[in-house]
Amino acid sequence: MGAGIAQVSAQTNHKVTLVDLSEKVLTSSEKRIRTSVSRVAKKLFKDDNKASEAFIEDTMGRLSLVSDGGEALASADLVVEAITENLPLKQRLFREWDEVCPEKTILASNTSTLRISDIMKNVKRQDRVGGLHFFNPVPVMKLLEVIRTDSTSDQTFNAMSAWGRAIGKHTVACKDTIGFIVNRLLGPYIQEALAMVERGDATFQDVDAAMKLGAGYPMGPFELLDYTGLDLHKFINENPDHPFRQESKLINSMVEQGKLGVKSGEGFYKYK
Ligand code: CAA
Repeated sequence: MGAGIAQVSAQTNHKVTLVDLSEKVLTSSEKRIRTSVSRVAKKLFKDDNKASEAFIEDTMGRLSLVSDGGEALASADLVVEAITENLPLKQRLFREWDEVCPEKTILASNTSTLRISDIMKNVKRQDRVGGLHFFNPVPVMKLLEVIRTDSTSDQTFNAMSAWGRAIGKHTVACKDTIGFIVNRLLGPYIQEALAMVERGDATFQDVDAAMKLGAGYPMGPFELLDYTGLDLHKFINENPDHPFRQESKLINSMVEQGKLGVKSGEGFYKYK
């Protein structure tokens, strides 16, 4: 998701540094971003190849991809963290960033399953923290959930919301509650879809077809699970704090077999 967030920011005239420890991830992210920006350019400029090329190169020119974020952190206006849902690691990183970032920097997390106040526990600048929760695929989904903790200042909340609008998103506000708005509602839906298939009420293919053709959803719940990652769903099930915690033998066994969804080439469906 970090690549998508970096992309939409760079596309809208923001200077962005994408940081990942792995050079391999950086190389594949750059490729993915270029492909995605090209899709956006094709839509925006249709047959105007010159304008399309300029848009792609301008966007890529505003983007740096580095394995050491030190220099970027020293002057950043905003840091958006999008690492794996590992609470101790997030807490450690935000403590470090709090030390090295200038006063002006707002520290934000893209977590979908954890509380922002837990993630920011060790941060001193409690008035300049918040949540910026994006949706997959980031370049396409128009929503951004802007989350404030009890100590987030109005100035920080307004700045995060203004940035969200500046990158072309429709922003909605939510308190620091587990799942925020979208996942709070998607959670029970996905859990019940899994329970139906585990009970043998219907096949996953038929549940997907039913929700697409009968409720107008762009993806069925099992396509969505594949898309967001079965490992993320397993993580939700293992979080004792989570309101939709519900053991799924099906998900556990698929994750054990390395079937994580689109990212691993197979989940409920197979992907090229
Ligand atoms: N970059 C740029 N553009 C992209 C893109 C990408 N990565 N992916 C798709 N697009 C564009 C395409 O260019 C295309 O544009 P046009 O319609 O103008 O041609 C458009 O999006 C549709 O793409 P496709 O034709 O390839 O595919 P589709 O019509 O099947 O749509 C989809 C794909 C947008 C993913 C659609 O299936 C969808 O909306 N699915 C639901 C996604 C969803 O629910 N996301 C939320 C997940 S929950 C989450 O993210 C929260 C969390 O905490 C993890």
